Amino acid sequence: MVKIATKSIPKARFKGRFADLNAFRTDPPEHMRKCKEKFGDTFHLDLIFQKAMVTSNPEVIRHVLQTNNKNYIKDLAYRKLKLALGNGLLMNEGESWMAQRRLAQPAFYKKRLEGLFDTMVETTERFIADFEQHRGNTSSINITSEMNAVASDVALDTLLGGNRYGDNIDIQETISRAQKYIVGRIRYPWKTPMAYINGRHRRFQNDLNRFDKIIFDTIDQHRKRDMSDENHLLSMLLEARDEDTGEQMNNQQLRDELITIYVAGHETSANALSWTWYLLTQHPDIYQRLKDEVRSTLGNRRPTLADLRALPFARQVMEEAMRLYPPAWTMGREALNDDEADGYPISKGGMVFISICNMHRDERYWENPEKFDPDRFSPERTKERHRGVYIPFGLGPRMCIGNNFALMEIQLIIMMMVQHFDFELDTAHPVVPEALITLRPKHGIKVFVK
Ligand code: HEM
Repeated sequence: MVKIATKSIPKARFKGRFADLNAFRTDPPEHMRKCKEKFGDTFHLDLIFQKAMVTSNPEVIRHVLQTNNKNYIKDLAYRKLKLALGNGLLMNEGESWMAQRRLAQPAFYKKRLEGLFDTMVETTERFIADFEQHRGNTSSINITSEMNAVASDVALDTLLGGNRYGDNIDIQETISRAQKYIVGRIRYPWKTPMAYINGRHRRFQNDLNRFDKIIFDTIDQHRKRDMSDENHLLSMLLEARDEDTGEQMNNQQLRDELITIYVAGHETSANALSWTWYLLTQHPDIYQRLKDEVRSTLGNRRPTLADLRALPFARQVMEEAMRLYPPAWTMGREALNDDEADGYPISKGGMVFISICNMHRDERYWENPEKFDPDRFSPERTKERHRGVYIPFGLGPRMCIGNNFALMEIQLIIMMMVQHFDFELDTAHPVVPEALITLRPKHGIKVFVK
């Protein structure tokens, strides 16, 4: 039985309905921050046709994502992603989601992931050899595009083992264009009919078809051969068998999971890396401490899996960067039935935005929250922290399946880049956060490479 709600949710109103909506649309995390400052950690946003409850209250978050998660599905904005991702894990719901998660989970066990470590190292080595061309140049480079490129390569190499068949397209560019189209449909739904007239929808469809062709051709090739000695996610997913029913994934399910993993995995990691360079180049003392740790431990040799544990400060730096700039800045849900969370009412059909940004900078849980201080993530201080206030990978059963993959990949790339290069921020280039599906630097981040 649903408990009686005892608290009312303040309506976040500053200038007027349309002006406020515009402020939210222009810079959602900044608008959410201002609302929290004035109205507290839980408030209603007026989206004209709908209102959404925004929260960074840990009790409400735990209730929605964990305790009563069955009462919530992904929100409308998420559901638009289905256009590209189909019924992959991120979008799937209910029994079907649970069956898929059960099938995919073993591929992401820590032990299995460790088998992908060497692939990650080799891909990063290739990237570094190419990146060498930027050293000493007088013009700065866009480190955000570079991080997107390396994260895309790592994702594709670990997903498909470097074997791609069919069309020779730039997958990163093709998928990025498709994502932009979907974000446009989420933000400006009234423009959708125009997209069918001006050809944008057709282009989107063509992009997806070309991506699908590569995936289906690659799946076909892999099905035809013995993959017992191959170590990539596709082979693990192809072999995966439901323990109860013995069922395996069909080609469409595999396609949906592969594109989901690629999309969910590479841009988030690339943004975490970009923000890490931004923060490090602005904090020379912390940057120096990291360089000392990495260079004294690794010298010029190839990192091993054991080095990830031997370099705790590199991990703390990455965790702190994801606190200040969480790549997944919000998670949206829709209530299936009336509910109550920590005294707040949530009505059937109501939207709930979990503001990871607000939570990660809440002064009740983070001392001096605006400060970049990787020591917050030392084992002692981590132990003292209120549970559930650091949630870059979400919480509950829908928590990121790739969190260990991402932590391994990001830490490795930071270590290897620090081993080889020094960066200096190009301060003439503006750094503006932009919250699309992920929180990214709108114009990229530019650095000089030494
Ligand atoms: C820094 C990197 C990453 C961040 C910050 C991140 C964040 C998240 C978050 C917050 C969710 C939960 C969304 C929700 O509950 O609404 C999620 C789900 C997911 N992530 Fe990640 N992710 C990252 C990297 C990855 C990687 C590398 C992969 C795959 C290799 C991946 C695959 C997925 C999938 C498949 C889901 C859906 C899980 C489900 O609903 O069962 N992510 N991610």
